[in-house]
Amino acid sequence: MKRLLTGLQPSGDLTIGSLIGGIKQSVEFQNNYDSFIFVPDLHAITVPQDATLLKERIKKNVALYLACGIDPNKNTIYLQSENLYHTNLSWVLECSTYIGEANRMTQYKEKSKSRENVSVGLFTYPILMAADILLYDAAYVPVGADQKQHVELARNLATRFNHTHGDIFTIPEPLIPKIGAKIMDLQNPTKKMSKSNENQKGIIFLLDSEEIIRKKIMSAVTDSEGKVYYDVENKPGISNLLTIYSSFSNLSIQEVEEKFKESNYGNLKKEVADLVVESLLQIQKKYQEFMESGIVDEVLNQGKEKVNELARKKYEMVCKSLGLGRY
Ligand code: TYM
Repeated sequence: MKRLLTGLQPSGDLTIGSLIGGIKQSVEFQNNYDSFIFVPDLHAITVPQDATLLKERIKKNVALYLACGIDPNKNTIYLQSENLYHTNLSWVLECSTYIGEANRMTQYKEKSKSRENVSVGLFTYPILMAADILLYDAAYVPVGADQKQHVELARNLATRFNHTHGDIFTIPEPLIPKIGAKIMDLQNPTKKMSKSNENQKGIIFLLDSEEIIRKKIMSAVTDSEGKVYYDVENKPGISNLLTIYSSFSNLSIQEVEEKFKESNYGNLKKEVADLVVESLLQIQKKYQEFMESGIVDEVLNQGKEKVNELARKKYEMVCKSLGLGRY
């Protein structure tokens, strides 16, 4: 069975963007692939984090994966920092990554713009991500559009390594959702909804209360035309709301457009809010149960053991092919 792998950083609370771009596809495909989902906690420290908050968020991420429908019997669930081979392989890959190639990563350019002291970790972050993927021979990597370039780097690094050292890595393919590859900020619909945006009014967090969700959706920025149809360029706010509705209802964009063609913006927003509230309240109920049970530690213990064993084998292959160590 081919392997599918993804991860969501615990650098902020997860949003409906994380759910739609990152988790939803893993849930949909968990019956068809050998599925891995992990918490890239080492990625989170590429920018400063509060230790207590980070620890909490790691646990919250896992409980949310489960609450969103990730079945622990069908998925291997683990923490990146509990398997040292991720960083070992990352170093090996760094040594075959060209500076120019790393420089071209657009997310680094964006993230480093708004900071004063940019860490080297933020720069090499996509290489650690390549290690996360290549260590387990993942064939498919479900991600939102913003991570496509990083998966492409992993592909290039794998291809280059295999070319020089033999058939060591599986070449991964990104799986980008057809609808919802980039959920936009509700206050600034030309910008991605991101868990780390300062202004939280445009972000719906998975654990927001009903009142807050409704408030945020009802005050989403739209346009002055007054007609509901999908046109990302000219109507980014309305198109984003239609996309959110489509993602939560599993209706196509055309079907959603048809449903709302006679609606005014207020009605559309109300219906989007109803649907999002209904879905998130269900997730939140399950989340509470998982947080209070011991399941998070249980699945992480199982996952840790399994992935360390798998990664050790792959890392040994890599070392052998490079002449490292005493294999
Ligand atoms: P991260 O934590 O920023 O985001 C997690 C996943 O959610 C997707 N996503 C979105 N999709 C659509 N619209 C949005 N507004 C939105 N916001 C987030 C992201 O595309 C991503 O799929 N580097 C990765 C984490 C990572 C990883 C990996 C992923 C580390 N190693 C290996 C896959 C495989 C990241 O920062 O994602």
